[in-house]
Amino acid sequence: MRQFMQTFSNVIFLGITAFILYVVFDLSKGSKSLSSFYFSSSPLTWITDISKGVSSSASMPFPSSYTDGRTRKTNGDQKLEKIEAGLARARDLIRETTLKQNQLTTLEDADYVPQGDIYRNAYAFHRSYILMEKLFKIFVYEEGEPPLFHFGPCKNIYSMEGIFINLMETNTQFRTQNPDEAHVFFLPFSVVMILEHLFHPITRDKAVLERTIGDYVHIISEKYPFWNRSYGADHFMLSCHDWGPRATWYVKELYFISIRVLCNANISEHFNPKKDASFPEINLVTGETTSLTGGLPPSNRTILAFFAGGMHGRIRPTLFEHWKEKDKDVLVYEKLPEEISYQETMKKSKYCICPSGYEAASPRIAEAIYAECVPVIISQQYVLPFSDVLNWDSFSVQVSVSEIPKLKEILMGIPEDQYLRMHERLKQVQRHFMVNNPPKKYDVFHMIIHSIWLRRLNVHVK
Ligand SMILES: *[C@@H]1O[C@H](CO)[C@@H](O)[C@H](O)[C@H]1NC(C)=O
Ligand SMILES: *[C@@H]1O[C@H](CO)[C@@H](O)[C@H](O)[C@H]1NC(C)=O
Ligand SMILES: *[C@@H]1O[C@H](CO)[C@@H](O)[C@H](O)[C@H]1NC(C)=O
Repeated sequence: MRQFMQTFSNVIFLGITAFILYVVFDLSKGSKSLSSFYFSSSPLTWITDISKGVSSSASMPFPSSYTDGRTRKTNGDQKLEKIEAGLARARDLIRETTLKQNQLTTLEDADYVPQGDIYRNAYAFHRSYILMEKLFKIFVYEEGEPPLFHFGPCKNIYSMEGIFINLMETNTQFRTQNPDEAHVFFLPFSVVMILEHLFHPITRDKAVLERTIGDYVHIISEKYPFWNRSYGADHFMLSCHDWGPRATWYVKELYFISIRVLCNANISEHFNPKKDASFPEINLVTGETTSLTGGLPPSNRTILAFFAGGMHGRIRPTLFEHWKEKDKDVLVYEKLPEEISYQETMKKSKYCICPSGYEAASPRIAEAIYAECVPVIISQQYVLPFSDVLNWDSFSVQVSVSEIPKLKEILMGIPEDQYLRMHERLKQVQRHFMVNNPPKKYDVFHMIIHSIWLRRLNVHVK
């Protein structure tokens, strides 16, 4: 087991660059448990060097008891082989594109062709995206009743959780009713709804998460063969709540093996970019985004930098100490004066400061992108949304906490032409943050699905 644990953390923490299968997880214990999965040749690593963002300070304790007593249903095997063969072909095609860097002229994709500096590897992304649209199938477990399951909030800070769950309910492009043709399995619980309905504000007993999610995984692992088959490696959950990561803690496979799609993508809380995906927190007041986009042309942006927001978390105290209502060019407010509009100010600022608060993610990042205001990201151990595909350095500025005193100097030091390029790229990247109902190609829903697709391609279940 020790050796296994080491292997596991090696897989997690070493950058994997070649395409040969690396480590076979030998989880078998006698004849009881024969199933396994291993990380496979990895389109995720071809598109991005994910090892860069992973800090070795995050240790990955792994429970030793989780393989005990598993039994495996073998009747799905041929179907599984077929699924895996399809994924292997997709990997080959993406890899070929990555090596050749060819524009995919033959691909029928008139609406939009990803290209330019906003992508880490536009060709590989394009190929991978098209394959996803063509092949990817998701099975949503039917078990569980609304409002805790199959439903979630569609407005305000946690809106992306509900929007995704609700869109998945009615989706026909990716959703399949036949689990045998599914590449991944969705556990459709809403952490926000569980807490809203079951969490007692006075007793504050977090066991409601354990009971609800633990019971759910128990039910689906008894009823279907799929969970035991992969220890959850081809299953995913999604949450935008601060407690999303914590909610998965009670089922160790869910925490360490399954794909977790989280807004709170904090590496220090074991967010693991190799298997987990970061998605944006978007504060949707009305439930839609179209009216939010746009802003003044660069020459009319008279404010250098802008921030307004509460004092919480570890970073904002430093920001306030140095900049709160102190400078005419760097406007930092804890409370915005009534006569100043938050959105309008973003639209006439060159840079919008996006510091982490209580949690790593901030809805300001998406707001800044909508307002074409270059995000200045101040966070620690945060994995940016879609950073598997997007080259954030090309349209945002990342400032470390220790550089906060020099913030103005840093922003003034960015040459005008570089600012203009970033501003231009923000307009291009907006499409990936748009919420549409029904979803449109390359919008935020499709980007989330693509993140899951990449994580699934990263794993081989046998
Ligand atoms: C999955 O494994 C558990 C033991 O951990 C067992 O109780 C359950 O019956 C298995 N599920 C199936 C479908 O065989
Ligand atoms: C930008 O500023 C110019 C010159 O000051 C002005 O003529 C123009 O109307 C402004 N554009 C917008 C969209 O505000
Ligand atoms: C990230 O997680 C660590 C460990 O739990 C925590 O101390 C830190 O405050 C978190 N960061 C944010 C911005 O929430």
